[in-house]
Amino acid sequence: MTPVFAVFEGIDGSGKSTVVDIVKQKLEKTGKTVWVTAEPTARMRKILEDNPDSYDPVSLFLLFTYDRYNHQREIAENLKDHDVVISDRYILSSYAYQGSSMSGTFGSTSQALEWMRYVSRIITLMPDLTFFLDVKTDIARQRIANYRSSDSLENAVDLDRVSAFYSTLLTQEIEKLDATLQPEKIAETVLQRILNKL
Ligand code: TYD
Repeated sequence: MTPVFAVFEGIDGSGKSTVVDIVKQKLEKTGKTVWVTAEPTARMRKILEDNPDSYDPVSLFLLFTYDRYNHQREIAENLKDHDVVISDRYILSSYAYQGSSMSGTFGSTSQALEWMRYVSRIITLMPDLTFFLDVKTDIARQRIANYRSSDSLENAVDLDRVSAFYSTLLTQEIEKLDATLQPEKIAETVLQRILNKL
C-alpha cells in the first residue's frame, strides 16, 4: 500500500480544521494510521509572533516557503510510517494569500505567480490529493466572527482578494468541495477519495 499525502486548502473560515479532524477519526476507524500537520508550522508561527506586522507579501512568501522547505522533510519522514499524512494548507495557500497582494511588486498577478512558482521549485514533495473547501467570503467572515478569535495574520487578510486568487489556481486535479455542507458529509467524500488512492 502506497501512503497518501493529502492537502486541504481554503480561505479562513472555510472549516478545514473541523473536516480534517473528522477525516482523521474516520480513517483511524478503518485501521489506517494518520499524521495530521498544518502550515504555518509552530516554527513559522513563532517567527510571525516575534515580529508581528513587519513583513511585506514578498518577505512573507519567502518565510512561508522556508517553513515549507523544512516541513516537506517532516512530511516525507511521516509518510514512511503512516498510511496517510494530511496537511492543513500547503503551497497554494502561499500563492493565494501572498500572491493576491504582490501585483504591485511584479506588475501583474501572472508575473507574481511565475516568480512564486519558480521559488517553489525547492518544494519537491507534492500532494497526492488536494481538497479545496469552497465557501463565499461573507459566510466565512461570519463564521470567523461567531466561532473564534482570529490572530493578527488573519486580521490583515483581504478575504475577497484571497478567494479570487484561489479561484484562478483551481485545476482539475484539485477537488472543490462545498464547504457549506455538513462537515460530516464533506469528510465522508474525502474519506472515500483517500481510501481509493491508498
Ligand atoms: P490557518 O490555517 O487559518 O490557521 P489557524 O486557523 O489554525 O490559525 O492559517 C493562519 C493564517 O496563515 C491564515 O490567515 C492563512 C495564512 N497563511 C498565509 O498567508 N500563507 C501561507 O503560505 C500559509 C500556509 C498560511
